[in-house]
Order: sequence, then structure tokens, then C-alpha cells
Amino acid sequence: MKNFVLIGVGGYIAPRHMKAIKDTGNNLLAALDKHDSVGIMDSYFPDAEFFTEFERFDRHVEKLKRQGTKIDYVTVCSPNYLHDAHIRFGLRIGADVICEKPIVLNPWNIDSLLDIEKETGKNVFSILQLRIHPAIIALKEKIDATPAGKKFEIDLKYFTSRGHWYHTSWKGDIQKSGGIATNIGVHFFDMLMWIFGEVHESTVLEHGSETASGKLELEKATVNWLLSIDGNKIPKHAKDAGKKTYRTLSIDGDEFEFSEGFTELHTDSYNQILGGNGFPLIETRKAIQLVHDIRNAKF
Ligand SMILES: NC(=O)c1ccc[n+]([C@@H]2O[C@H](COP(=O)([O-])OP(=O)(O)OC[C@H]3O[C@@H](n4cnc5c(N)ncnc54)[C@H](O)[C@@H]3O)[C@@H](O)[C@H]2O)c1
Repeated sequence: MKNFVLIGVGGYIAPRHMKAIKDTGNNLLAALDKHDSVGIMDSYFPDAEFFTEFERFDRHVEKLKRQGTKIDYVTVCSPNYLHDAHIRFGLRIGADVICEKPIVLNPWNIDSLLDIEKETGKNVFSILQLRIHPAIIALKEKIDATPAGKKFEIDLKYFTSRGHWYHTSWKGDIQKSGGIATNIGVHFFDMLMWIFGEVHESTVLEHGSETASGKLELEKATVNWLLSIDGNKIPKHAKDAGKKTYRTLSIDGDEFEFSEGFTELHTDSYNQILGGNGFPLIETRKAIQLVHDIRNAKF
């Protein structure tokens, strides 16, 4: 049984990590959040310690280490701009780290984390859940088998409704979340590059607080992408069906369906990481470079 501690336990995504830790037969020893509304912990690990101050959390972790309790993993579920600091904490206490997406905001943050991985001999794993989605793995196999030189036409639209709170929270602050293309888009860009290859050219058409769009020339595809948190963009038929999220990916005019099967992917990611098959830090670099470039594009 592996021992975990978790940073950012009070947020939206943390329960999926607690569930994954529990489902994989492991234990959460302690958690940190700067807010104290963390009753959700009772559903997973009622005996875990909880701290609202980093210094007290750090002291507790150090005490556990000195008493001979090994902390195997630090899970990071904090806001994007804090990931690199929280990953460093994990590596420095001698743990491996499982961190939410986007692993960091800028490509050079990855380079310094790679150095600390080498210094500590510990590893950082990202949650790249689309890469373990069965329909997406099947798509990759199909594309890998197509003759060299074939270029696909892809149209990606992802609309997900977010209320006014989004703009008040860290998610609406480009310095903290990286903006729409980074925070919402990184999953899709990573997936598209994984399947269709390196970026040859990236054009940004719009990068606003609610909507971003652009065009990518990948090795094997031309991609027109549009991402938005404006609920009014969700088509009527999807709204009438009660949907708050609409995603469509067409490849040469054929619809590729991957709306289902997202919720269990954190547990699957943990199974892979714990089984020695997690995605290493370096695997995240291309997508982080691309979202950085999109964020800083002049248009
Ligand atoms: N894989 C996915 O599908 C997916 C979905 C949503 C979010 N995410 C990622 O998960 C991470 C968390 O997102 P969320 O939606 O849960 O956000 P959230 O705002 O709901 O939760 C973040 C939590 O971190 C806490 N926090 C903030 N600063 C902290 C600090 N200095 N120390 C400790 N805790 C601190 C907050 O109080 C909050 O409880 C982000 O990186 C986000 O991009 C991933």
C-alpha cells in the first residue's frame, strides 16, 4: 500500500484523486488546502490529517518521515500557477508526484523540474486522461496505420458553459490559469499532437476571456479549433437535451465520438502510474510549449 499526501484537497477535481487513491488500494495520510471546507474528505479518508497552512503541513510531513513513514506520492490539485512549486515540494521530500493538467504554464518550468527530478531521483507524472481513453487509443492506432503523406482535415469545437464565478476565480485570471486555450484546451492539443504529430504552424484567430480559436498545421492534419466557456454557443439540440458541454471533433467530415468515458479516467491514470506506466514529465512538453505560444501569439 502506497502513502499519499494531497495539495488542493478542497477543490472540484480533488475527489477524483481521492477516489483513485482509494480505488487503487492506497492511503491518504494528510492533505492541504487554504480553505477549510473539506468535508468531502470524510467520504474517502476520514482519518487523514488536514492543514490549511503550508508550514504546518510541511512540519507534519517531516515528522512522518522522521518517524519512518514513507510518503510515496504527493498529488497536486492546486491552481495551475502553483503546480511547479507544489511539485518541487513533493520531489524535495523524496516522493513521486502526480499533478493535474496543465502540469505548468511555461515550457521552461518543465526544464527546471526535469533538473530536480534528476537531483532527487524522483518522478513527476501528469494526468493526460485523453491518452488513455479507449476511443482515442483506437483512433491513434487507425491514424498510425494510414499511409505516410496523408493529411487529415480536423474541426474541433468544445463549448462548456461556465457561470460568472469563473472570471472571479483563479480560472479567469490568465496569469493563474493560462487562459482558455491553456486551461481548457491543453487536453485537446496534447491529444491531437499525440495522434497527428508535431506542430508545423500555429495561427491564433481569437484569444479572449471566454473564447479562443485558431488553426494548427500538424504533421498529419490541419486543425481548425474553437474553444469556449460561453454557454450561448452550445447548439440548441444539445441544450434541449440538458447538456452543459458540447464537444465535436470531425476528421475529414466524419464525426469522432468521445463524449463518454471521462469520469473513470483518473482511476485508470493512477493504475498506469502505480503500475510503472505513467506519462513522464517530458511527455507534457510539446503541449505546454504550444499553449504557451498560443497565449503569447500576436494577432
Ligand atoms: N483533468 C481534468 O479533467 C481537470 C478538470 C478540472 C480541473 N483540473 C485541474 O485540476 C487543478 C485544480 O482545479 P479545480 O477545478 O479543482 O480548482 P478549484 O479551484 O476547485 O480547486 C483548487 C483548490 O486548491 C486550493 N488552493 C489554492 N491555493 C492553494 C495553496 N497555496 N495551497 C493549497 N491549496 C490551495 C483551493 O482552495 C481549492 O480548494 C487545476 O490544475 C485544474 O486545471 C483538471
